[in-house]
Amino acid sequence: MSTISEQDYVFNPTWVKETERLRTNEAIWDPGTFERMDRLGVAAGWRCLEVGAGSGSVACWLADRTGPTGRVLVTDLETRRLVERQETGWSLADLPQVEVRRHDVRTEEFPAETFDLIHARMLVQHLPDRADVVARMVRALRPGGLLFLEDTDSSTLFRSSHSEDFLQDIRAAGYGLMRQSGHDPRGGHVDLQLLLAAGLETTAEGRAVMVRGGSDQARHYMLWLEFMRSRITTAGLVDDARIELALEEMADPANHWLSQVMISTVGRKPVPEGDSAR
Ligand SMILES: C[S@@+](CC[C@H](N)C(=O)[O-])C[C@H]1O[C@@H](n2cnc3c(N)ncnc32)[C@H](O)[C@@H]1O
Repeated sequence: MSTISEQDYVFNPTWVKETERLRTNEAIWDPGTFERMDRLGVAAGWRCLEVGAGSGSVACWLADRTGPTGRVLVTDLETRRLVERQETGWSLADLPQVEVRRHDVRTEEFPAETFDLIHARMLVQHLPDRADVVARMVRALRPGGLLFLEDTDSSTLFRSSHSEDFLQDIRAAGYGLMRQSGHDPRGGHVDLQLLLAAGLETTAEGRAVMVRGGSDQARHYMLWLEFMRSRITTAGLVDDARIELALEEMADPANHWLSQVMISTVGRKPVPEGDSAR
């Protein structure tokens, strides 16, 4: 199995706390994603592709919504979390309408002109070859199919009534290093431009979440900082004592802060003249 280099993807899929980091991320973003998928009309029988599925909550929602007559292809570089039976006693891969596939979206094709819906959240913003990845997803859409990308603008992260500079040194250090590993802090804006350039009929909107210290959502940011900690201190950006204090601030229910803005971009692939689409 290939490994992912730091230049390609900033997080380590085999880190001991990566499953918890992914699940707490789902706790922040899933409600808004499901609401938007509902509005898009995802329904029984749809053929869907979930790319970079992580811990699989969106893929589960799609499998449930599309039902036994649907088809959901679920991909990631690391599929262990998607196929292992977890605390529920069943795994996504047990569902007949689901196929879990190890797949590298940077280099491997999908079946052409197949899917009614392709979704990827917090994936494209990490990949240096974004335009190629989006072109590959567009090829996999059937005419009239929807490409739904969700990536962030990180400029709002940790904005708080607490103080003007609440955790801003931590944000600047962590996101500065992520940028060196290929992450784009304005990834959601880039998605919009890429879908327009691909000739899709495109709309976009943003959402942010208020996070309370000590919550599951706050835990996600604590795990992000734990993961980035040694890189931040080795680079001399922030010292250990400051990181300890930041972790305490994130654990304190008296603190509230704003998440990144999640930009949801939806593009419809044109239907050639004379053809009919769903
Ligand atoms: C930040 S996580 C987001 C997970 C999930 N989409 C979510 O929002 O809950 C990014 C995911 O993309 C996967 N990934 C990274 N590079 C990839 C690639 N080149 N091809 C497929 N998946 C990739 C990672 O393994 C990870 O599961």
